[in-house]
Amino acid sequence: MSALPRTAAADSTAAFLREGYRFIPARCARHGAPAFRTRLLLRPVVCASGADAAAMFYSPGRFTRHGALPPTTVRLLQDLGSVQAQDGAAHTHRKRLFMTLLAPDAARHLAALAVGRWRERLPVWRSGVVLHDVLRGVLCEAACRWAGIPLAPGEGARRTRELAAMIEQAGSFGAGTARALWLRRCSERWARALVERVRAGRLVPPPDSALAAVAAFRDRDGLPLDSAVAAVELVNLLRPTVAIARFVVFAAHALHAHPQWRRRLREDRSEPLLECFVQEVRRLYPFFPAVGGRVREAFSWRGHDFGIGDWVLFDLYGTNRDPHRWHEPERFDPTRFAAWDGNAWDFVAQGAGDAHLTHRCPGERATIEVMKAFVALLAREVEYEVPPQDLAIDLSRMPALPASGMRLVNLRAAASADG
Ligand code: HEM
Repeated sequence: MSALPRTAAADSTAAFLREGYRFIPARCARHGAPAFRTRLLLRPVVCASGADAAAMFYSPGRFTRHGALPPTTVRLLQDLGSVQAQDGAAHTHRKRLFMTLLAPDAARHLAALAVGRWRERLPVWRSGVVLHDVLRGVLCEAACRWAGIPLAPGEGARRTRELAAMIEQAGSFGAGTARALWLRRCSERWARALVERVRAGRLVPPPDSALAAVAAFRDRDGLPLDSAVAAVELVNLLRPTVAIARFVVFAAHALHAHPQWRRRLREDRSEPLLECFVQEVRRLYPFFPAVGGRVREAFSWRGHDFGIGDWVLFDLYGTNRDPHRWHEPERFDPTRFAAWDGNAWDFVAQGAGDAHLTHRCPGERATIEVMKAFVALLAREVEYEVPPQDLAIDLSRMPALPASGMRLVNLRAAASADG
């Protein structure tokens, strides 16, 4: 039984690819409903948006991620055997590893390492850089250092290429995806060898590092992770750290589009203002459009009976700009976060609910700290110019990015910098 509206089109795959991020919110608005039924890739699916849908979708244990996204997307992002592929108690146990490794202090340490790497490289970039390109390298090298992974000279560029390809191709299908899958296998072989060397005592990472923790971690059955699975989890720490480059580029885009905010952040150096700015960038700019799940336990919601195995897509992009929750949602206004109550359902760039109990991202604090560190640099410490370029963000391309990757020229330390 269902009270949810159904799209007129029998299958919406072409519309989804054409409209990208806007596909779900546009139809929810059209139907005046928080969810609708359609087919994608010929499979029936319920697409749901908004804070109530977040509470429905992120109710602990209700959905599995198995069979909920195209196999190439799964392989390039979280992958088989990963924490995201776990359910129930096995998931909670494995998730603790990530929550511990990515605790606030560790997140700040990661941000400090990334900024340190940026400062070392800045003199080389004086004449100009594509921000997205250089940040991916900076974040890859910082993530490896943070994780206790040694990099041979020149290896940073290779690992950056591999990790970046996984992100770029996650939403595509074709030759680029095949190449990204091949590069992913190279990363996995490398990460697996690292784990095996640590276990054999041939490599000794710092005892509190991610590499040491993943190599030593025991699953709920008391056994160490298979080295292939340990490699997947190591990559699951490195790849998304490189992905933060996208959010920093969006932050630079926002500083450029709203120069009053660049001035304000330069004048008011308070931590809360920086956090509000970063949160508004995470709310408004497009990253993951949606997450998918398949029902584990039958339940009813909004007059629709969900059966075991049913497929649901929860709308991250549209929930962040839901007019029922956000005043003038399309307006870039960091001050809205000064009064935000911090609830777990209406701001969902990296998932919703309690990260310990659901699949919500464990790297949210790390993402915020890295973004804050780079926004502070860009607004207060580095002088640069933004030459004419194509800054358009194509919402049918997932994941999205300003077309130019954000080119900056004449970079130099600001005379007033105190960092
Ligand atoms: C770049 C910004 C990031 C975005 C937009 C992002 C987004 C997300 C989203 C939407 C989910 C939830 C998926 C779901 O419900 O199935 C997720 C899960 C996850 N993220 Fe992130 N993430 C980011 C950064 C990070 C970082 C920095 C790390 C680690 C260093 C990380 C590690 C993970 C892991 C391991 C999961 C799986 C959690 C689970 O299944 O319980 N992410 N991420």
